[in-house]
Amino acid sequence: MKTKARLKALITGGAGFIGANIARQWLALGHQAVVLDNLSSGYERNLVPECAFINGDIRDELAVERAIEGCQVVFNLAASVGNQRSLDHPLEDSDVNVLGLLRVLQAARRHKIRKLVHSSSAGIFGELKTLPIREDHPQDPDSPYGVSKLAGEKHCLAYNKLYAMDNVCLRYFNVYGPLQRYDAYGNVIPIFATRALDGEAITIFGDGEQTRDFVHVRDVAAANIASAVTPGVRGAFNIGSASRVTINRLAQLVISAAGVAVPIKHGPSRPGDVRDSLADTRAASAAFNYNPQFDLGEGLAEYLTWLKADRLSSCV
Ligand SMILES: NC(=O)c1ccc[n+]([C@@H]2O[C@H](COP(=O)([O-])OP(=O)(O)OC[C@H]3O[C@@H](n4cnc5c(N)ncnc54)[C@H](O)[C@@H]3O)[C@@H](O)[C@H]2O)c1
Repeated sequence: MKTKARLKALITGGAGFIGANIARQWLALGHQAVVLDNLSSGYERNLVPECAFINGDIRDELAVERAIEGCQVVFNLAASVGNQRSLDHPLEDSDVNVLGLLRVLQAARRHKIRKLVHSSSAGIFGELKTLPIREDHPQDPDSPYGVSKLAGEKHCLAYNKLYAMDNVCLRYFNVYGPLQRYDAYGNVIPIFATRALDGEAITIFGDGEQTRDFVHVRDVAAANIASAVTPGVRGAFNIGSASRVTINRLAQLVISAAGVAVPIKHGPSRPGDVRDSLADTRAASAAFNYNPQFDLGEGLAEYLTWLKADRLSSCV
């Protein structure tokens, strides 16, 4: 695929945190995009005006058919996201993440899409057995979400073999950055940041010495685009920062970026939480020159600036 050509992409879940960041980078490169999103966890205010928007569901064949028309690339972000949500809604989790994805794959096949990049998750691995986590690490998910993400990957990779497609699955580790908001199923950084800005204590589950690999959303967006436009790339790749931090250290970094003094408390550890996480990203570097740019301290400072502005604008 030539990178200079003007391409049109379908971004499912493009009103969400990561999808909306991909849309911004994709459009900045001079490409076109259409977003298909049912706004179940995304926000209309994340959408950029240059992007066509269809308010619809990836489980709706007609909506997918309408959205994919004229596209050459698909970024599939739409999902029921997260371990806790999947424990609360296990049927919906697989309905969207497996059957919804299959609808998108079927449409991609019919429309001879050149590249489909599917958002997978480090949740497919389950408990860490070797460090750092390579692509061939044992896959033993601990939640319905991890299972549905693994099943989704297997479908994408089977379609590569069956129908000579070039599907890519990107296994994100912990993504953070602008447009990520606190909600009932929020991730650790928005939760810590929101509590700090509210002047409330930050609660860490367990001893806080568990580690995570936090990757900036613009590095994730760049990985989506590079894997889509680099000819011949297919298969599954880990996308992290290739560095890790303890949750105790993360809490200190968030407090310092927020510029406030709030206490840190410890609660009981949560069942199903993995102890450690760290991506080996060498396969993505070799295949499509993936090279994460963001340092966590700088990324958090930028995120807190964005979050403060977003909280102000949603109050008015
Ligand atoms: N945020 C992370 O740290 C992380 C880590 C690993 C994987 N992922 C994956 O990345 C993708 C994007 O996640 P995110 O963090 O941006 O979450 P998000 O909730 O912000 O985005 C998901 C988007 O999909 C939309 N959506 C949900 N169900 C839909 C449906 N049936 N039809 C159409 N649209 C639907 C939502 O409205 C939302 O806009 C997901 O596939 C998620 O599993 C995220």
